[in-house]
Amino acid sequence: MLINRVKDAPRSIARFRPESRVAKNGEERIARTVSDGEQPASLGPAEVEHVAEIFKTPLTCSYNWDYRVAEDRIRKLYELGKRLNWNASFDIHWDQTPDWQDAEPWDDEQIESWLTDNPWNGYAPWDAMSAERRVEYFFHNQAWSLSQFLHGEQGALLVASQLASSAPTFNAKLYAASQTFDEARHVEVFNRYLKTKVGFRYPVTRGLKDLLDKILTDERWDLKFIGMQIILEGLALAAFHTARNDTNDPVLKELLYLVIRDEARHVTFGVNYLQDFIQTLSEEEREDRAQFAYEACVVSRDRLIATDVFRYFGWDVDEAKRVLVERGINADFQTRLYERVIPNLKRIGLLTERIRPKFEEMGVLDFEDFADDGDIDWRELEKPLEPDVTE
Ligand SMILES: [Fe+2]
Ligand SMILES: [Fe+2]
Repeated sequence: MLINRVKDAPRSIARFRPESRVAKNGEERIARTVSDGEQPASLGPAEVEHVAEIFKTPLTCSYNWDYRVAEDRIRKLYELGKRLNWNASFDIHWDQTPDWQDAEPWDDEQIESWLTDNPWNGYAPWDAMSAERRVEYFFHNQAWSLSQFLHGEQGALLVASQLASSAPTFNAKLYAASQTFDEARHVEVFNRYLKTKVGFRYPVTRGLKDLLDKILTDERWDLKFIGMQIILEGLALAAFHTARNDTNDPVLKELLYLVIRDEARHVTFGVNYLQDFIQTLSEEEREDRAQFAYEACVVSRDRLIATDVFRYFGWDVDEAKRVLVERGINADFQTRLYERVIPNLKRIGLLTERIRPKFEEMGVLDFEDFADDGDIDWRELEKPLEPDVTE
């Protein structure tokens, strides 16, 4: 076993593919990446290099010596989680589309939709790019998003496992354990999709890494809960819905359907559990949590931008970011994020009078009375897995 301990997350693109290849119609397709070490599809234990970044956390943990189980919503969600377990090897039909060695995972219709009404039109570095280079840009942009999903899921896996140790009540420990397994499946499927369908992976973006670091290294379990179950999972749900809408790939649609189901349950758990807990905090403690939630929202808005893709294509990163914001290129995603997060913050009591003006300034208080995830639509959550989820 080879463990390479590093001080910080890698910054380079990881590639599982050669520089270019032949598409299904026999024509040489775009060289999407430059190869810097192609990896074979499967590796023996001795061939894997584990890149481990160490972090320390002063986690305050608890046993629960009572073991009595309250018949509450948390218990019911735990039962549901067990019932709706799925297996990525059987429930996702990976062979519906060819692997990257054989053809692109994105079809002509998808490429057409990417290139028409393109919001970058008029931006000089974009206009200077050939049609092929533009298609390549979209491949990279998608690969970047999917890579952030993967890294975010790993963060969720680590946080959920911490919650099993640190949550004070029995039901929450069991639930966190079941969520830990959910997150393991999520890491598994995004990793498999990138490896088999995309062919390369972007590194974790700084903003996401900072957010994960903050959540993972804070000793207060409830702050982890807020950061994970309300902000990051809210963010994930918004991003997954956007990705599912935007893709024509049936494998990705299927995968996201399964992951979204789990995430919806996780957010519901977070809102229901925190709603009761936050009431037990002092005013000062509550304001502290409200400030943390606000800062996490700011990071989500300002720092989850595909700057590594801009850099890869040789764009001026600051200028491209400015254009992206000015043109509202990620406005749809932002709206989905706040539609979800703001009502949930209100529901759990973290839209305090002191923090409201800051959210007001962000222009997101219009969402405060949207539906939150606290009222459980059991019928929706309990629906059996659909056999055909590609629509
Ligand atoms: Fe997840
Ligand atoms: Fe989750």
